[in-house]
Amino acid sequence: VSKAADRWAGATAVITGAGSGIGAGLARAAAAAGMTVVLADIDEPAIQALSAELLAKGAVAADPVVTDVSDLESVERLAGAAFGRPEPVRLLANNAGIEQVSLLWEDGPGAWDRLMGINVSGVYHGMRAFVPRLIEEGVDATILSTASVGAFTSGAFQGMYQVSKRAVLTLSECLASDLEVVKAPIQVSVVFPGAVNTQIFHRAPDLGGRSTRMRGTLEDLCATSGMDSDEAGALILERAAAGDRWITTDPGMAWSLAKLLRDRVEEIMGVIGS
Ligand SMILES: NC(=O)c1ccc[n+]([C@@H]2O[C@H](COP(=O)([O-])OP(=O)(O)OC[C@H]3O[C@@H](n4cnc5c(N)ncnc54)[C@H](O)[C@@H]3O)[C@@H](O)[C@H]2O)c1
Repeated sequence: VSKAADRWAGATAVITGAGSGIGAGLARAAAAAGMTVVLADIDEPAIQALSAELLAKGAVAADPVVTDVSDLESVERLAGAAFGRPEPVRLLANNAGIEQVSLLWEDGPGAWDRLMGINVSGVYHGMRAFVPRLIEEGVDATILSTASVGAFTSGAFQGMYQVSKRAVLTLSECLASDLEVVKAPIQVSVVFPGAVNTQIFHRAPDLGGRSTRMRGTLEDLCATSGMDSDEAGALILERAAAGDRWITTDPGMAWSLAKLLRDRVEEIMGVIGS
């Protein structure tokens, strides 16, 4: 029996961005562990197809709920649907996210607001809509939010995305601190995926020239050497069930990028003195 089945069989998992990639992998793993899954995505056909697939494989229940994570009311409706299920909500995976490959001043119209709306506000909305109810129920629940190994770095062509992923890390750390104040038994976990073979770069806006070339390079990297998305979903769910606060699909890459951040902080400390 997997750790996820041991801890969560019979409970409900809510997964945003469940229509594709890592989110679909998380949903397949959660359903296989005996959980009810609530599949949240803006892509209605994708979550309907996944729901049918999971039910055919014997899932307890797999409810597709069309959700735009950038809209708080939409996420509150998702919470209403999830808490309306007979199986108690024990896991919220704030996984929906988008990419953008461009120099910071070369983004398309509305790109900054769109990306921050999904990658940052989307995660906040999940916390805002689910945490008060979980505190009230006093249950052992988990809020699992997907950042990226990019949360540690500050690289060219990835400015917007990396700012958003650093924010997911900070939001999660702050949530954990806030939960300590009220002594709520809620686990807060952050995922730092390395390259995973998904649609994320293919869906990213195509801005032409060197941005298009870089987007192509990153898309090829994920397609040729990225981890399989179902494998990533299963690994992430197991580590979360084991209680890990920080989870990665690529320890080597996560370690070397986290070290870059540590080195930079030490460099700053050296310059500012004590
Ligand atoms: N693939 C990678 O290599 C990689 C690496 C690091 C982090 N991540 C992160 O993993 C998460 C999942 O990404 P993926 O690679 O599986 O991408 P993906 O594009 O395959 O899947 C993302 C899903 O999110 C959905 N989505 C987009 N906007 C939404 C919105 N407003 N509301 C609800 N759903 C929305 C999409 O419809 C899609 O089904 C993201 O947060 C991403 O940043 C991915």
